[in-house]
Amino acid sequence: MRYLAVSCFAVAFLFLAACAPEPPLVNQYNTAVPPLPTLDASQIARGKQIYQQYCASCHGANAEGAANWKTPDDNLNFPPPPHNDDGHTWHHPDRVIYEAIRDGIRDTLRPNQPIRMQPFGDKLSDADIRALLAYFKSLWTREHREFQYLRTTEDEIATPPAP
Ligand code: HEC
Repeated sequence: MRYLAVSCFAVAFLFLAACAPEPPLVNQYNTAVPPLPTLDASQIARGKQIYQQYCASCHGANAEGAANWKTPDDNLNFPPPPHNDDGHTWHHPDRVIYEAIRDGIRDTLRPNQPIRMQPFGDKLSDADIRALLAYFKSLWTREHREFQYLRTTEDEIATPPAP
């Protein structure tokens, strides 16, 4: 009988926990932020199409990265990384991903090295780059999306837009 009572209690607890509203998201500045935005399906589709055209040749058809992406070459440069959950794109706030696509990636510690990734700012519009970001976000688990969303809200506080 006692076990029954305990398990009823456990079931009731789980039920209440499942029904409870999700706790608000709070970033590292202790700022409560709006809930994780829903992604727009047409923006994702547009991003996926742009990705296939401009990025898949290096980052893989499904953004899985080059097979050997964790192994640097003789020059200590890393092959194109994945943009799905396996990679580190989701570690960066929106601005950093956006600027990497627009401005390309240089080796800041070794400026004489060839550019690591060409800039796409002359080929892609602002809306194209935002669509790419939406496509990448659609590849991430909710946990990774929340992590990246919080980093983005912190970055927006730390790096206000240029006047
Ligand atoms: C010619 C190959 C090539 C193409 C095409 C290419 N990339 Fe890259 N990309 C790279 C390489 C190599 C790196 C790693 C650079 C480094 O960190 O040294 C990289 C890194 C990145 C990163 C940084 C990831 C991180 O976690 O730091 C982003 C974001 C990115 N690419 C997005 C794109 C997008 C979007 C496109 C298409 C518009 C694209 N790339 C096309 C080669 C390419």
